Amino acid sequence: MFITFEGIEGSGKSTQVELLQESLRKIHFDVVATREPGWGKVGKLIRKIILDYDDIEIEPIAELSLFCADRAQHIQELIRPKLAEGKIVLCDRFYDSTIAYQGYGRGIDTELVKKLGVHAALGVNPTITFLIDISVNTALSRIVSRPGRNRIDDESFEFHSRVRKAYLSLQQNQPNRIFIINGEQEIHDVHEEIKKILKEKFSIFSRLVRLD
Ligand code: TYD
Repeated sequence: MFITFEGIEGSGKSTQVELLQESLRKIHFDVVATREPGWGKVGKLIRKIILDYDDIEIEPIAELSLFCADRAQHIQELIRPKLAEGKIVLCDRFYDSTIAYQGYGRGIDTELVKKLGVHAALGVNPTITFLIDISVNTALSRIVSRPGRNRIDDESFEFHSRVRKAYLSLQQNQPNRIFIINGEQEIHDVHEEIKKILKEKFSIFSRLVRLD
């Protein structure tokens, strides 16, 4: 099973990936947690190019190609083999990020972005996606003090608003795959909501317990 997490900057996805990994391990599931961009040798190099420098201008289409290259390698080298071994793979960002950021954020033709972003997944699709939604104001206030801010964190309020709107409309169009969670709640409550949805949708997760 392939579970992805999406949301704008500062939405707390990474924390939720860690918490879910812990909860699933407690009930003896074999779980692999990963993220995009930046897995493996190629991914690390690509991540450096895309995010680390604030003194280079990257053409939107070049940026799109780099995210797609990162994804194809990630799928081929890690995600597909782990899924084939029967593991649960949790991924912090996947192709919905490309549609939201490069399509709606950067303004590249969304049909083209969908085609390339999804094609780069080499036929692998998330079983379920959690969209952790917060307001842009909350996002910007959370990332202002974040160490290691990157080139995309530094984009404008309008950019992040377009990305958030894109996520909301992706969720509306695919309500059976994408589940929206209010990320303004306490971390613990977000985690409980995620577990509740997993339990309701998949009987294999019936042993996930509520921790109060
Ligand atoms: P990262 O430091 O991993 O932070 P986070 O996911 O916690 O926000 O930054 C990854 C950045 O890359 C993030 O700003 C979103 C962006 N991104 C895209 O623009 N397109 C993509 O396809 C992906 C996977 C990420």
